Amino acid sequence: MIDSHCHLDPGVYGGDDGVDAVVARARAAGVSRMLAVGSGYGFASAQRALDVARRHPEVRCSVGLHPHDAKDATEAALAELFAMSAAPEVLALGEMGLDFHYDSSPRDEQRAAFRAQLRAARELNLPVIIHDRETEGETLRILDEERAWSTGVLYHCYTGSAAQMAEIVARGGYISIPGIVTFKNAGDMHEVARATPADRLLIETDSPFLTPVPHRGKRNEPAFVAFTLAKVAELRGVTPAALDGITTENTLRFFRWT
Ligand code: NI
Repeated sequence: MIDSHCHLDPGVYGGDDGVDAVVARARAAGVSRMLAVGSGYGFASAQRALDVARRHPEVRCSVGLHPHDAKDATEAALAELFAMSAAPEVLALGEMGLDFHYDSSPRDEQRAAFRAQLRAARELNLPVIIHDRETEGETLRILDEERAWSTGVLYHCYTGSAAQMAEIVARGGYISIPGIVTFKNAGDMHEVARATPADRLLIETDSPFLTPVPHRGKRNEPAFVAFTLAKVAELRGVTPAALDGITTENTLRFFRWT
């Protein structure tokens, strides 16, 4: 199996030893590859994700600035991020985007940091991982305005409507389904999990949050991606093994993971 999006931050899992134990449990559970997202725990989370990827051959990473941290997006900080992406372990920029639910950074700063990262991704020819929460289509408009689709766009932890999923897919984008799909109150996610075209579908844990049933309430980790895989397979009427073949192939293709 493959977990297309996890935050293996040592601050969450009890230091480097804790992260190494999480990777070992994932491997024992049949998760042979993990994408560690270097964004979301402050600017320094990029370097920490890269460190984890360098220690573990089954881990690759992204680097980026989360919309929550957009207030830290100085020109120097962004330049440092983009320079970091030259490392062979870095497969993408992100997660990046807009979050108007928490509004942890002023919206204009979120927009500016998002656009700067999209421009860098085009220059660096790297795919992007998108975080989009309650933006009423603005994230999609910015992706269009910045002509971001050609290097690859992945909507991670997708909780939007099936209609918006279709708009993303029509532009060439990919959709990643998190463990929320296993919750009783999964909203539109069941419909999205059924309707997303097979060649655009990924799954993820978004560890350490959003732990799938039956471990809901515990801290999440990549080993639990199996529960999300099983639920999405059930919704689509295929075996978990068949769906695993598809989501693994899609993840490797999207990230140009070799
Ligand atoms: Ni995330």
